[in-house]
This record gives sequence, structure tokens and C-alpha cells, in this order.
Amino acid sequence: MDRRQFIRVAGGGVIASAVALPLAGCSSDYPAEAVQAWQGPGADGGDVRRWILSYAILAPHSHNLQSWLVDLRQPNEIWLYCDLTRLLPETDPFSRQIMMSQGTFLELLDLAARRRGLRADIELFPEGEFGPDKPDRRPTARIRLAPDATVAPDPLFEQILRRCTNREAYESREPAAAAVKAIADSVAAFPIRTGFVGAAEPQALQQHRAIAMEAWRIELVTPRTIMESYKVLRVGPREIAQHRDGLSINTPIVRALTALGLFDRSKAPGPDDAATTGQIKDFNAKIAGTPAFFWMVTEGNGRKTQVNAGRAYARAQLAATAQGLSMQPLSQALQEYPEQAQPYAQIHSLLEAPPRYTVQMWTRLGFAPPVGPAPRRGVDAHVLKA
Ligand SMILES: Cc1cc2nc3c(=O)[nH]c(=O)nc-3n(C[C@H](O)[C@H](O)[C@H](O)COP(=O)(O)O)c2cc1C
Repeated sequence: MDRRQFIRVAGGGVIASAVALPLAGCSSDYPAEAVQAWQGPGADGGDVRRWILSYAILAPHSHNLQSWLVDLRQPNEIWLYCDLTRLLPETDPFSRQIMMSQGTFLELLDLAARRRGLRADIELFPEGEFGPDKPDRRPTARIRLAPDATVAPDPLFEQILRRCTNREAYESREPAAAAVKAIADSVAAFPIRTGFVGAAEPQALQQHRAIAMEAWRIELVTPRTIMESYKVLRVGPREIAQHRDGLSINTPIVRALTALGLFDRSKAPGPDDAATTGQIKDFNAKIAGTPAFFWMVTEGNGRKTQVNAGRAYARAQLAATAQGLSMQPLSQALQEYPEQAQPYAQIHSLLEAPPRYTVQMWTRLGFAPPVGPAPRRGVDAHVLKA
């Protein structure tokens, strides 16, 4: 190992200065069993719902927590519940992103059902909507599947196995106007305002970059929010294969540090520690080179609105994939914990979202080198046992 990559820290330990920790890292070379789900459906035992679910579980989810529980006891129905052990109370205190992540699942479920000529009648919150503070044990959705000759397959289905969140450096070239339009058009059925900024508005672009950088810095130096990520960090093939969720990192240097006991995940790094400054530097370079940003704003912020924003985001990212474009959500400035109040206000002001509006999603957008898919736990892990 290159000695220059290490920095001596107080207490005599060493940590890597050049470690791209997972929030800024990419997913590559994961153990085969962790990414098996991306091979597409296996034998479904004759139950089309399992075929459909094998696509739905490939949906994007905040911190890759995969908080989807399904009850298949009613024939031709899927009841979706939120796994209350898979929330992010520090960074997502009202579970807005968890609700969006229920929505991404529903959208992929719907695309897969259509592909099989089935109409998915999705009833949100059939036993009542969650309160504004947190989800509860009631179902998020009841889905009834019915054959319907008028149901047309959606071409976005073909992108499900190709989509992934790309955290690499993006090329400087801008997405074409037609590609941006295709992304916006993909969510036209939802009452959502989309927006895009690129090189044509250099001042606004700089404002986007500045807010993203500051929000990220805040998340990294706030001990309880960075610890929330550390808790779901999976380092090396053994942990990644064991959990098949969370934020996975498999780079040789982090694995070596972990094996040597030099990467301490039990406490937050200090603001001046190399683990923090290295990540800030890496992230800032990527943001400074990002050619464009995309966003989605809703009027209101009720639970159905959040779920539907998730459905729309899944479509937007699939549409971007079809255009050869990559996306990475930038959730930090959208998060509702007190330390983010300023970036939150700034991004809402920049995107002309006064108080009764909510910026539900804000992403980098551009061309990037391909990355591998992120782990998934497989359909069985999501099916509630009778
Ligand atoms: C609501 C929501 C918020 C997200 N926020 C972030 C984020 O702030 N930064 C990031 O890198 N990825 C973010 N993601 C992407 C997830 O981390 C990603 O979907 C998950 O790790 C699985 O990887 P995949 O999308 O490649 O399948 C978000 C996804 C969703 C649905």
C-alpha cells in the first residue's frame, strides 16, 4: 500500500487520506450473490407476483435500505408495508425519503405488471394515511392485479435492469435538450414540476454547486447524521454478501484499513480528520464538474404526494438511463434536520419553491462511466411469512 495515502491522527492511529468513502463512492465488483437479483427473475413457481416483485426490488431506495415488505396472502393482490426497522430517523426525520422509496418500488411494480399484460390497481394507504411524523404498521398500498387487454407495456420497463445510481465524476458535456425533455415528459402524468439547469445559466449552476457542497459538508461533520450512514456501511465482500443492503464499499484500501482495525465505524470522525476532509474534497470535485442538475417540486407534502414523487423519480431516472444519462440524488439540502435549515431554505428559494411547495428530489445529471449495480436482498427477504 502507498504510505502517502495514510495520515497520522491523534492517538497514534492512521487513517487513509485518499479514501473515497461509500457515500461518495461507486458500487463495483460486488460478490455475485449480492447482485444476483440484477440477473432478472428466476423461477417464480408459477406466481406472476414473484416475477413482478423481482423487478420492483431493483428500485432506488435511500441508503439502499430496501424497506419493502409484501404480503401475498390474498390471491392476485400484493399488500405493501414499510419495514419500520429500516428508517433513517436522523437524516430523514419525517421519513419523507422512505415514502418516496416506497413509491419507486410501486412504479417498478407497475411497469413489470404492464409488461405481463396486467393492470395494477394501486390503492395508497388503504387503511389511512400515515401521520406527518413517521410511518406506522398500516399498509402503504394495496395492489390488485387483473388481466387487461388495454394495458400497454411501457418502454421504461426495458431500463430497469440497466438503471443505477452513478456517483462517479460526470463528463463536462451537457445533456441534449431532447434528452432533458424526455426525462421531464416521463413524469408528465404526475402533478409535479420538474426543472433543469445547465451551462446556459452559469450563475444558477454555481449556486446549485455551492448549496450541494455546503449541505454535504454539514452532513459529514454532524456526528449523528454521519453515524447513521456508518451504521449501514458494508465493507468488503463478506459484509456485502451478508447484508446485501446499505452503503457498500469494496475498494482495496478501505478493506485493508478495516481488516487492520484502522477504520473505526463506532464513532464519527472529527471535522478535520482525513476521513472527513478527503470525502469533502472528493465530493466537491465531482460537484464542481457536474454539468447539470435536475429537480422535482410538489405542491404540498402529504404522504401520497411523497409516494407519488418517488414513482415520478423512478420514471425520471429510467428515462435518463434510456438517454444514456446518469443521475445521483443530492438529498442533503432537502433534509429536514435542524443543521440543514440554511441549505434547505437556499435550495427551496433557488428552485422557486415557497413554503407550501417541497423540493422532493434534486439530482446531478450527466454522462458518466458505467458502474455496477448495488446489492439487493432478493424477493424472499421481502415476503412476509404467513
Ligand atoms: C429518496 C431517495 C434519496 C436518495 N438520496 C441519495 C443521496 O443523497 N445521495 C446518493 O448518492 N444517493 C441517493 N439515493 C440513491 C440510493 O442511495 C440508491 O438508490 C441505492 O443506494 C441503491 O442503488 P441503485 O440506485 O444503484 O440501485 C437516493 C435514493 C432515493 C430513492
